[in-house]
Amino acid sequence: MEKRLALFPITTKIVAGKITIGDCDVAGMADRFGTPLYLYDQDDMDSAAQVYRSLLNAYWPERWSITYAGKAFLCTAIAEWTLKQGFMVDCTGAGEIGIAANAGLSSENIIVHGVNKSAEDLQAAIKYAGTIVVDNQSELERIIHLGKTTNLPKIWLRFQPGSSVATHSYTQTGHSDSKFGMNYEQILQAVKTCRKNGLPIEGLHFHQGSQFRDPEPIGDGIDRALELAKEIGFASEWHLSPGGGWGIAYHEDDLPQPPTEQYVNFITENIKSGCKKRGLALPHLHLEPGRSLVAKAGVAVYRVGTVKQTASITWLLIDGGMADNPRHALYGARYSCLPVERAMEPPTETVNIAGPYCESGDVLIEQIPMRTVAENELIAIPVSGAYQISMSSNYNGARRPAVLLVNNGKAHVLQERENIADLFRRDQHGDT
Ligand SMILES: Cc1ncc(COP(=O)(O)O)c(C=O)c1O
Repeated sequence: MEKRLALFPITTKIVAGKITIGDCDVAGMADRFGTPLYLYDQDDMDSAAQVYRSLLNAYWPERWSITYAGKAFLCTAIAEWTLKQGFMVDCTGAGEIGIAANAGLSSENIIVHGVNKSAEDLQAAIKYAGTIVVDNQSELERIIHLGKTTNLPKIWLRFQPGSSVATHSYTQTGHSDSKFGMNYEQILQAVKTCRKNGLPIEGLHFHQGSQFRDPEPIGDGIDRALELAKEIGFASEWHLSPGGGWGIAYHEDDLPQPPTEQYVNFITENIKSGCKKRGLALPHLHLEPGRSLVAKAGVAVYRVGTVKQTASITWLLIDGGMADNPRHALYGARYSCLPVERAMEPPTETVNIAGPYCESGDVLIEQIPMRTVAENELIAIPVSGAYQISMSSNYNGARRPAVLLVNNGKAHVLQERENIADLFRRDQHGDT
């Protein structure tokens, strides 16, 4: 149980047997705000941010930036948090750009990604962003066309290095059949197009996948990107981003947490030696973490509605599932869990935890040892801060949960719970 507790945010305590986070009583918050409920621990987010900042200060002698990957979870308050941290935000498309701009981020702090940016995405990028990471040649031509009379953001090119990190195949992005980016020759072609149109290229970006623990494959990506940089002929001022994707522990079997230092050290040392070998100036280095900044800060709280015994499985049926967290259904992601009260009592049985939705795949956790949990009790699933709310849906009329920031005994609503009226807000009466 102690190992499970280590997956929770840094301020988590057990007080009289009950979980508190940010000195807020989790059961009390569930009663007040309802369940499913998502809690973000401010101290945990701040401390993850500080770890990246101090490592880059220690390991990188030139300019660096941290770009929060908004896809992990973006809302107005999180975008405001990135501003306070001095981070940039990576936005995919007009929607995320809109959230970031609405939160007050200036153009220098917005970087735009996307494999098939629509005209609306590109127009939003040109209006609000400081950098567009161009994914392919036809996008480049559309930008040139759109931007003829406008001041264009900085242009970086998205490189597909031909290798991915070791992770689930759905989150690998660097291999030669990945839908993301341009290969070596395609980048050189894009460079020619830029030069012909008087468009300066200021940087290269690649991302080989997410939720990896072994940085080794990034060495290959860095090598290929630096070779390309040399051929492009970047002079003193240029930008390089090896993306994000550093992994975190979701389950006690994944502990200890992969040390961020291992990741930052590997990347910076490889870029330094690769640049030296090729006589290249050190780039302005951009790291793009998402989950390793916010996943551990987030906890999902659910209420058990029904305990059901089937032929060989005891099911805890809870009031949320794949609509607020599709990661088990999508990637078989493995989570852990504690009861919110009498949290540290040793397990007495093994259960599956599943949601209320009409899919057999609506399961959050399989075969987890737990103390006997009764109907109406609360459970808390740690490491719920990334790619859950941002991937949530209204399946079966689910209303997205409330999201709270907890700190020093205070809970602040970041996002209200959706209500039934939100479900038909876009609907028109049919003429049937
Ligand atoms: C281009 C890019 N950068 C950064 C990230 C962030 O990855 P993670 O949240 O795993 O750090 C992703 C994730 O898909 C990405 O596609």
